[in-house]
Amino acid sequence: MGELVSLTRQSEIAIITINNPPVNALSPGVPEGIAASVESINNDDSIKGAVLIGGGRTFIAGADIKTFESLRSSENRRGAGLLPLLTAIEDSQKPIVAAIHGTAFGGGLEVAMACHYRIAAPSAQVGQPEVKLGIIPGAAGTQRLPRLAGVQKAVEMCAGGNPVGASDAFKAGIVDKLAEGDLLEGAVAFVRELIAKGESPRRTRDLNDKLGDAAANSAIFEAARASARKTARGLIAPLAAIDAVEAATRLSFEEGCRRETELFQQCLQSDQSRGLIHIFFGERAVSKIPGIAKETRVIDIKKAAVVGAGTMGGGITMSYANAGIPVILKEASQEFLDRGLATIKKNYDTSVKRGRFTREYADQRMALITPSLTYDGFSDCDIVVEAVFEGMELKKQVFAELDKVCKPDAVLASNTSTLNVDEIAASTSRPKQVIGHHFFSPANVMRLLEIVRGKATSDEVIATSMALAKKLKKVGVLVGNCRGFVGNRMFAPYQREAQFLVEEGARVEQVDAALYDWGMAMGPLAVGDLAGLDVGWRIRKEYKHLEDPSLRYPLVADRLCEQGRYGQKTGSGWYRYEDRGKGPIPDPGVQKLIEESAEEAGITRREITPDEIIERTIYALVNEGARILEEGFALRAVDIDIIYVYGYGFPAHRGGPMCYADIVGLNKVYDRICDFERVHGAQWAPAPLLKKLAGEGSTFAEYDRARQ
Ligand code: 3HC
Ligand code: NAI
Repeated sequence: MGELVSLTRQSEIAIITINNPPVNALSPGVPEGIAASVESINNDDSIKGAVLIGGGRTFIAGADIKTFESLRSSENRRGAGLLPLLTAIEDSQKPIVAAIHGTAFGGGLEVAMACHYRIAAPSAQVGQPEVKLGIIPGAAGTQRLPRLAGVQKAVEMCAGGNPVGASDAFKAGIVDKLAEGDLLEGAVAFVRELIAKGESPRRTRDLNDKLGDAAANSAIFEAARASARKTARGLIAPLAAIDAVEAATRLSFEEGCRRETELFQQCLQSDQSRGLIHIFFGERAVSKIPGIAKETRVIDIKKAAVVGAGTMGGGITMSYANAGIPVILKEASQEFLDRGLATIKKNYDTSVKRGRFTREYADQRMALITPSLTYDGFSDCDIVVEAVFEGMELKKQVFAELDKVCKPDAVLASNTSTLNVDEIAASTSRPKQVIGHHFFSPANVMRLLEIVRGKATSDEVIATSMALAKKLKKVGVLVGNCRGFVGNRMFAPYQREAQFLVEEGARVEQVDAALYDWGMAMGPLAVGDLAGLDVGWRIRKEYKHLEDPSLRYPLVADRLCEQGRYGQKTGSGWYRYEDRGKGPIPDPGVQKLIEESAEEAGITRREITPDEIIERTIYALVNEGARILEEGFALRAVDIDIIYVYGYGFPAHRGGPMCYADIVGLNKVYDRICDFERVHGAQWAPAPLLKKLAGEGSTFAEYDRARQ
């Protein structure tokens, strides 16, 4: 059978074990091994039944996603290629029981459903998460699941992609038994029971009782489509998954499988699956830091402190408390401390009201937070995160104080969004312990953590920060110490183009709508209003001396701020805001201001298309991203993609800005950037790396691969 699948026996019961660590994916060799095992079981009269189980930590986490690229280009359009194996399992003359622990996901659940019965460990999870990769189940999952769990549950699982715990799976009929003790023992006993009762193999494909009637089903499908259009905006896979389950209710099993294969192929061939699979692997790739040895010591963070209980400090404190880490929250005055704590409490109360946390959980989290006006208790903290006002002198003062009170190997992190981490580090006697931990607002919700490495930061502090990000349920991405780091440095030209577009003739809401419809969580001008337009204004004024005066300047953004229109916090910015919670309202006053600014800048206004809005803004991200990559401030192009998807509401199905540029074709992107340079000036000078890769017909993905 080879090493991937082993066949052993406990007297008359055969045990098929999959050994493909870490997650027993159905990589080449595994399906063949299972099929060969099933064949020998059926050819051996002394065997009466079998158990299929995963070795190691899990059952089967699905098809091998790494093989999808070749499946995509394969001439052979046969779904995921697993159907013959599943038929062979189901056709077995001897009962086969799937014994599930860990996860039975995707192709894993499909294999389990082709077995005649299923037993699961109470901690096991089952699911059809394919839509999260932009595809649908491709090995009859959409056909067998409704036959076991009913149409409603199958639609929920196939279109939503969320896993189901063992006890829910038992209630739904997906598993037949929950193991009480050892899983393998329970499974063997289960097969023996079936044999003793003389049960013949029960084939899922023949179970039609739960397929429902046309009237009830049509209401289920209609509601599911409406919900998918809302919650999975612009995504094709959830709708395809619903179509495939619908096929199960209308067609024979074989015809349903053929329809599923067609839909699977359409999804697999889409740019959306390419983008989402890129993000799946990217999320894992960013945790690997070249040059930092695996055995580097990781400091165990048992106690933390946060300095500053404002917008960010409060959210950061909650992130620590949610991870079960006791945290001191220090403020400069009782008033601000009380205000910060009240906000944290309010956030927990809202979560309890919405059913996200239980009261007990929220109380436990609150109890982990110790408010303070002094540095008492800091001496045994393993990490301190500074989140005071954005000002170099203040930050230096705080770090000098921390240097005095913290133990020598404590990590000293700053949440600065614009300041030089090296300069902050220089105010301490231990710059190697200093690092940037750039959280995103709201810090208890947003998953991105930009980890900013200073020139002296030690490997230990970097490795600790990467491990800590996971503990805080964040995606940590290591970046270099340049102005704005990676995310905000790229965001500046992106927002600049949005502002230029309105000066040139686009309406404010037209720019935001084009990007929202393209998939961004919010348009760039509405984001400006949310973050506060004064922030950018202050930065523009502070760094004006560094800017090239020959470059075009976003005049209208300054004009708004000069009128006190700072965005949501002042009730007006690019839009007007009447009530909290109510959306932005287009403002004719702003339109007038834009037209006046355009005239002042000598711009002739014109019609702007949605395509131009997308190209101007997204290619601005790509061009700056390419510079950052070449300068080494991002480790890989995929790191930039992950930063944008997890921190800036970039649509995951577009794969992040760099992957999107690969999909469009770097040649095409480069040519458009050259056009923009001719028309709009030197701020569009193409990044040398982009020019080089476009000239070679290469991609950012190939650039990443070449540097692995
Ligand atoms: N194929 C290939 N590699 C996989 C994989 C898969 N299905 N699932 C996980 N891996 C790899 C990861 O890339 C990672 O590799 P690395 O160590 O080199 O970075 C390694 O396995 C461990 O994975 P995680 O770090 O994610 O481990 P966790 O323990 O945190 O999570 C998991 C385990 C919950 C199984 C998670 O990996 C996961 O959700 N995997 C994807 C499951 C999935 O989407 N399955 C469906 C696949 S598509 C399919 O089956 C189509 C079918 O219908 C035909
Ligand atoms: P904020 O103004 O809401 O909070 C700052 C808090 O620090 C105030 O409550 C203030 O009283 C307190 N403080 C000042 N000096 C102190 C001292 N010596 N000791 C203890 N507390 C002190 O500011 P915000 O928005 O939370 O920003 C904090 C930091 O986070 C800044 O460096 C900012 O650039 C950065 N940041 C902000 C983001 C945002 O969206 N607001 C996003 C990412 C980073």
